[in-house]
Parts: sequence; C-alpha cells; structure tokens
Amino acid sequence: MAKITASVYTSHVPAIGAAIDLGRTHEPYWQPLFDGYKLSKQWMLDDAPDVIVLVYNDHANAFSLDIIPTFAIGTAAEFHIADEGWGPRPVPKVIGHPELASHIAHSVIQDDFDLTIVNKLDVDHGLTVPLSLMCGQPEAWPCRVIPFAVNVVQYPVPSGRRCYSLGHALRKAVESFDADLRVQIWGTGGMSHQLQGPRAGLINRAWDQRFMDLLLDDPAALAQMPHIDYVREAGSEGIELVMWLIARGAMSDRPPTVLHRFYHVPASNTAVGHLILENN
Ligand code: DHB
Ligand code: FE
Repeated sequence: MAKITASVYTSHVPAIGAAIDLGRTHEPYWQPLFDGYKLSKQWMLDDAPDVIVLVYNDHANAFSLDIIPTFAIGTAAEFHIADEGWGPRPVPKVIGHPELASHIAHSVIQDDFDLTIVNKLDVDHGLTVPLSLMCGQPEAWPCRVIPFAVNVVQYPVPSGRRCYSLGHALRKAVESFDADLRVQIWGTGGMSHQLQGPRAGLINRAWDQRFMDLLLDDPAALAQMPHIDYVREAGSEGIELVMWLIARGAMSDRPPTVLHRFYHVPASNTAVGHLILENN
C-alpha cells in the first residue's frame, strides 16, 4: 500500500522564484532565506518520495472569477507552467500521477468532500515556488506531483476545520492505494502577509510562531480557529495558511518528528515559514 512518509510546509512568495530564476540567491537580501532551505534540499535528495500531493492555491491564473472551485485535484499526466504575465517560469513541467489522483478523487468524494476534477491545469507560483525551494533547479522534478488546489483567493474560503478533516480523508485515500508508493503531502502558502489596502505589509511574527507551535502540538485545536482570526492577525493573504491544515490532517495521529523548522522575515511582503514533519 502507499504510505505518507512526511509533510512539508512552506511559503510560496513569487519573488523567491524570480530570485532563483535570475541567479540572485546569494545576494545579501536573499542568502539568509535560502540558507534556511539547505537542509530541506539535501533531505529531498537523500529521501525523495515517489509522489507529492501538493496542496496550493492558484492566484487567478488557471482559474478566474468564471469558475471558483473550493477544492480541485489535478488528474492529468502533466501540467504546464502558467504564464503569470511575464512568461512561464523556466522550470520543468510537472509530471502528475493520474492513477493515484483518480483514486484520491474517488475516495475523498465518497468521504463527502466535493473535489473538482481538473484534467487540464497550468500551475502558478503557488505550486512551482515550493518545488524550487525544496528541489533547487533540476532538469526534471525528482518525483510525480499531484496538484491539489484550494480557493483562498475569492470569498467564501473553506474553514480550517474543513481543511483539517479533508487531510484525514486524504490520508485514508493515500493509504488505500494499492501500490508501494512513498507519498509526501505539502501544505503551502502563508505565513502572515497582506498585499493590499491600508494594512499592506502586515507581518505578525508572534502569531506566526504560535501557529507553528499549535500546528505541531495541537492541530485539532488550531483547526477550530475561524477564518476572521487569520485575516485579522495574519493579514488578508494570511488565510493561505488554512492549506497547512490539510497536510497536517494527513499525518498519523502519533506526534510527528520535527525534522526542520525555519522562519524568516521578510521575503518580499511575506513572513516565510517552513516545516518538515516525518510521519510516525
Ligand atoms: C507575495 C506573496 C504571495 O503569497 C503571493 O501570492 C504574491 C506575492 C509577496 O509577498 O510579494
Ligand atoms: Fe500567495
């Protein structure tokens, strides 16, 4: 059977992708950020999974106000890199896993979560920047990737509670797939940031650290937090953090091993948070 070996959490700031693509990672502004991912890149080389279920949000690139799926799973064989206005990022295309993705869709939908099935999907910085941070600049990504998109851009957005339960359903789905696959679940986006309005530039270090503490030690309690608290405390784009609860909900009930924890302010307008948890 397939098993979930680990979960990874990371911010997805587009300027990080630009710094990598333009060869600027060693500049003083960026170096401390990329230093925080050295261990992660080595770990991905040493311990590459077969498949990543990459929970992310699209930023009005693949989807628009025409159609707004709350939860969407990419079931295609491959996914091209979205053009976000200045050409697609120069990174490898994403190779999917249609069999596992279809199995997850079947299992999770039968468990009462209404996923939208997407057979054609261009992936934006929400998905490619986490891959770049964790894998650097390879010729091809080291494993298959199933994009799992969550609407956190246009209200109404799903609650943390629903995301956490969806993580449980995802765990059940992966663990019932009849193939010997090592699967990681990634939760991406966040941490505190607000890109617009009078509070643009908001960062809340204390709240971010508390979010990581609770995610590790009491995710069920964290899942009860209403969306308005994310927005008030972590800014309008801080709501991206509900996606971390999907990955955390996919982990076993036993406490995970914290392989890595990193926090850095700022990257562009955002507080960058990063965790690697191994399943026990
Ligand atoms: C920034 C952060 C995001 O999450 C995003 O989607 C776009 C921009 C930023 O900090 O600039
Ligand atoms: Fe974002």
